[in-house]
Amino acid sequence: KKVEWNFEQASKGGYAHFMIKEIEEQPEIIEKTLNIYVDKEKNVKFDEQLEGINFHDIDRIYVVACGTAYYAGLQGQYFMKKLLGIDVFTDIASEFRYNDPVITDKTLAIFVSQSGETIDTLMSMKYAKEKGAKTLAISNVLGSTITREADNVIYTLAGPEISVASTKAYSSQVLVMYLLSLYMGAKLGKLEEKDYLKYISDISLLKENIVKLINEKEKIHEIAKKIKNVKNGFYLGRGIDEKVAREGSLKMKEINYIHTEALPAGELKHGSIALIEKGVLVVAISTNLEMDEKVVSNIKEVKARGAYVVGVCKEGSLVPEVVDDVIQVKDSEELLTPVLAVVGLQFLAYYTSLEKGFDVDKPRNLAKSVTVE
Ligand code: AGP
Repeated sequence: KKVEWNFEQASKGGYAHFMIKEIEEQPEIIEKTLNIYVDKEKNVKFDEQLEGINFHDIDRIYVVACGTAYYAGLQGQYFMKKLLGIDVFTDIASEFRYNDPVITDKTLAIFVSQSGETIDTLMSMKYAKEKGAKTLAISNVLGSTITREADNVIYTLAGPEISVASTKAYSSQVLVMYLLSLYMGAKLGKLEEKDYLKYISDISLLKENIVKLINEKEKIHEIAKKIKNVKNGFYLGRGIDEKVAREGSLKMKEINYIHTEALPAGELKHGSIALIEKGVLVVAISTNLEMDEKVVSNIKEVKARGAYVVGVCKEGSLVPEVVDDVIQVKDSEELLTPVLAVVGLQFLAYYTSLEKGFDVDKPRNLAKSVTVE
């Protein structure tokens, strides 16, 4: 009897979709990234990748990208600002050239692109290069156009990403920018050794905590069943969690065709709260306990107007007391817990799409890489 064999099915390795396979590959990619880019003495091994850049000569950094890579860039900006005390600006690649960026030969411009083929990102790189910036590509695809045009390249080690909705490429980009910040911090003498070592060990903690989240994914599946029919939603957060909100909202939009908008939680009452009524979904993120109380009060405001609220928070947060459902993540320390929250939101978008019966890996109107402006 002939055995039916299907290449696509085989490469999914037993998973129903590439997206969930790729979400669950994240812990092993973190491990691989650590093995390849961090040596036994815990030094980040970027000397070769960053050859020719004297970080003492850099006074401004731009991070430029599209979509999910842009949201990863916002996380990178957060790390660099926290750890280095250098001016770091992030921009969307299709806007960068029109925003009159201040570029000199002391500028480092970082371009983040999974595919390395996104035309807006490529054009931004050419523009920055012409203005005299040093250009660094962070890409997942060996020999892609962006990596060929850049002065320097650091590869993310995510392996091929098939699902249109980016997941493992995002966390790999964030991780590379985290390592880059630590590398620069060490070079510039901005980090105490004990802090540096702690930041490095937090990466393994993140990996373990993603594994724990994967083991509890069915809880998120149950939440997805409850929210699958919503038509509108808001993703709210403060500080870095607002950036998490943007990535979570994009995931929900692209594979579920549910209109969601990400907002800084405190901004809601300046207009958008007018849209809150029964049936509206609010996803509220709180991974920084310093702002927890304020997020809780924003949740109460939307609950009072009938919203269905899913909280994403870490242990110790008061969010579970005021929401309808909760995705609780472990503490990976302040800098990396937001990444863990994004993984939770990747699962939420995935299971919602699964429940809606959509073509998860190939959503309508979207291509894996966008090569028109
Ligand atoms: C992510 O889920 C999207 N499909 C999309 O935003 C993507 O991240 C963006 O088009 C950038 O692609 P790139 O990383 O290949 O440049």
